[in-house]
Amino acid sequence: MSLCVRGAAQVLRLPAAGLPYLRHDRAGELSLDPGSVTVVDGLIAALDDDPDAGLVVDASGCAVLPGLVDCHTHLPFAGWRAQEYELKVTGVPYEEIALRGGGIASSARAFALATDAEVLEQAGRLALEMLAHGTTAFECKSGYGLDPEQELRALRLAGELGERAVQRTARTALLAHAVPDGYTADGWMEEVERLVPEVEAQALDIYVETVAFSVAHLARMGDLAARHGMALRAHVEQFSTSRSVGVALEHGARSLDHLACLHPDDIGPLARSECAAVLLPGAELLGAERAAPARALANAGAICALATDLNPGTSPVLSLPLVVGIAVRRYGWSVREALLAVTLNAAWVIGRSGDLGSIEPGKRADLVLLDGPAEHVPYRFGRNPVALVLMGGRPVYVRPGEEWRLGR
Ligand code: NIG
Ligand code: FE
Repeated sequence: MSLCVRGAAQVLRLPAAGLPYLRHDRAGELSLDPGSVTVVDGLIAALDDDPDAGLVVDASGCAVLPGLVDCHTHLPFAGWRAQEYELKVTGVPYEEIALRGGGIASSARAFALATDAEVLEQAGRLALEMLAHGTTAFECKSGYGLDPEQELRALRLAGELGERAVQRTARTALLAHAVPDGYTADGWMEEVERLVPEVEAQALDIYVETVAFSVAHLARMGDLAARHGMALRAHVEQFSTSRSVGVALEHGARSLDHLACLHPDDIGPLARSECAAVLLPGAELLGAERAAPARALANAGAICALATDLNPGTSPVLSLPLVVGIAVRRYGWSVREALLAVTLNAAWVIGRSGDLGSIEPGKRADLVLLDGPAEHVPYRFGRNPVALVLMGGRPVYVRPGEEWRLGR
């Protein structure tokens, strides 16, 4: 069964086939020329028209992008923390909210109290909203368990979400997110060590911060990841500079996330490595954090990715088009730089750039049609430009009013 996405004004294409990632100093090589895409059996077959296609999607006036990949979210979680946002904007620092028993600990209480059905219902609704914003793959994390059983429950629910959601998902075990009551950080790392063999996830993650875990704990998490065949990811350099980059690179980290307080001397080594710099401009904006040195990272040839960091505390944001808008403005990035960061390089972060993240023959036909040129994504800030989403070559989201594109 073949399908043709016909006559797009722009198709986002990479400069070569088979790239696992593209360093950001080469983002200018992405092209946005007119074209069509032919899909056979759920895979991209050609960047060309197929006059005999069984189903035609009229892409006139559209930019066609690969399905967007949100490589850093905290789904699943329970409830929200809007009251803390008000405290934060009126001047109470995040660390202080955390020390008062708010922050991550309050989401852990909500998670423990919620039933599985409630957690899945909330996460499922968010996944549908993400789909309508063009997200066809996303990362899930544990981290609101703060107790061995609840962490395993979070990972089980992440797996169930992956089965129920339309999107493709990846699982990360954020086993060291906050130091649980009754433990020291070292004591909790002992628990983590016991937990890891039971964990079903592609990656391990840790939050390195003065109120959480140290660079030494990052090294220990890196050893665990290597021993158990998982990728290492880490939340680092968010509110203070801890010089975590050297240790993370020694342990072969797949990504370092946040980086608002990255030390200038760490830009070069990170940029030369295969470890992605995952930037979270929604969290930076809403937390009145510094902006990560994204322009310098891109110039230095880092593998940059952008993500929502969707979570009830620092970033209740699920729209990647919005994140692209913030990044372009705050980082001084081009549209191509921002789009590369939510497609191929984000797929690299979750270990899926072999089959997702770009429009090239052989990859899964997860495609997003925007209702105008790609340049409008950041420019018409805050607006959702997504008209239609295909996954495996099948329409999974059609914005009301856009049905005519399917010939209906
Ligand atoms: O990625 N920084 C640590 N973890 C989350 C926030 C979690 C929360 O506040 O609930 C983050 O920003
Ligand atoms: Fe996060």
